[in-house]
Amino acid sequence: MTQVVNVKNTGLRGVTVADTKISFIDADKGVLIYRGYRIEELAERSTFIEVAYLLLNGSLPGPAELQKFEKQVTAVREVPPYVYSCMKELPKGAKPMDVLQACVPVLAMADPELAEESREANVRMAIRLIARTAVVVAAWHRIRNGLEPLASDPALSHAANFLWLLHGKKPDEETARDLDVCLILHADHTFNASTFACREVVSTRAHMYAGIAAGIGALSGSLHGGANAEVMKMLLELESEKDIPGWVKARLDKGDRIMGMGHAVYKTIDPRARFLKDMAFRIGKKTGQNRWHDLSTQIERAGLEEFKKRGKTEIQPNVDFFSAPVYHMMGIPRDLMTPIFAISRTAGWCSHIIEEKFAEAQEKPALYRPQAEYVGQYCGLMGCEYSPPEERK
Ligand SMILES: CC(C)(COP(=O)(O)OP(=O)(O)OC[C@H]1O[C@@H](n2cnc3c(N)ncnc32)[C@H](O)[C@@H]1OP(=O)(O)O)[C@@H](O)C(=O)NCCC(=O)NCCS
Repeated sequence: MTQVVNVKNTGLRGVTVADTKISFIDADKGVLIYRGYRIEELAERSTFIEVAYLLLNGSLPGPAELQKFEKQVTAVREVPPYVYSCMKELPKGAKPMDVLQACVPVLAMADPELAEESREANVRMAIRLIARTAVVVAAWHRIRNGLEPLASDPALSHAANFLWLLHGKKPDEETARDLDVCLILHADHTFNASTFACREVVSTRAHMYAGIAAGIGALSGSLHGGANAEVMKMLLELESEKDIPGWVKARLDKGDRIMGMGHAVYKTIDPRARFLKDMAFRIGKKTGQNRWHDLSTQIERAGLEEFKKRGKTEIQPNVDFFSAPVYHMMGIPRDLMTPIFAISRTAGWCSHIIEEKFAEAQEKPALYRPQAEYVGQYCGLMGCEYSPPEERK
């Protein structure tokens, strides 16, 4: 008999809905761990592709395994040409997140293993998705600008290849490495809204692509992945603002949110934000664009001060607060910031989908099926009497 636990209207805060072996957050200490490794350690020493392997397989690869995995990802970068034909039919003003979400089932249609239910086949599907979501985002940027998508360069890393496909110019090593680190930092984050959406969808035995499309939809919202684009909008609006503390106060007085601050889990600064803040400073110095780091830091300082006065000391910068200026300084358009989050998170989503499908952290797979309390119109068990439209008052 299922025990009924009442957690209504809490957005499931504080409710543990499953076990996972993939990632862990210490909300009070601001720690994020992937498969046992601290995020800082991975960001400093690993690569996005190695982290994707770690997330999917549970342990770091040996040299031969890593080389094989890198080759596998590189080999499946090219998307079937019909995907580009479909993309060329879309309105040029379509939002990149909508295009990416729409292209995932389009990619599914060409996946030869879609109906395969083994773990191995799902890992191969994950590899195709990790490789191709990046290609689709970059291709859309070219198509909407009237340009032909470029062919991937097998000599380039995942991040470097993405920048090449986007800008048509090979990035310098430092920029490619910085983007790779951003991808590492965004790759997984326990049971956030989009990951939960992926897991919920595949708990019905839907395929991996159906789960990923749901995850992209959930990530697009401004309270989740969409926040980085909103942060950039705020920075651009505040470029010539002289009174940042006054602006922050007025915004909070109106009941509006400071985008990029606060988190549903962390009660302190998000560890990814700490890392990205330093990166923003370094890139700003290197490229002569220090103003974005300076402005972000002013907003952060004023926000912390104002939140403290309101007894909300736990509201601190999250991952989006400093990733936005970092991407901006890399020449990435504002509306591609959330899609970049998505191409990184695809690694985490696929890992969670596999964990969910194959019950790797629990006894057996279970279909998610919460309940809701009906608080609408009720005329008893016989139901209300239907009357034709002309007889209704
Ligand atoms: C992420 C977020 C939704 C998490 O918040 P949460 O834990 O679910 O809590 P709530 O949304 O219920 O907010 C709790 C309180 O803090 C306030 N708050 C939270 N984040 C805030 C922010 N960034 N700016 C202003 N107020 C904020 C809320 O207004 C609410 O105030 P109230 O209790 O007086 O109504 C929230 O912090 C937010 O909206 N941040 C901005 C968007 C963002 O950066 N999202 C990316 C997250 S990685």
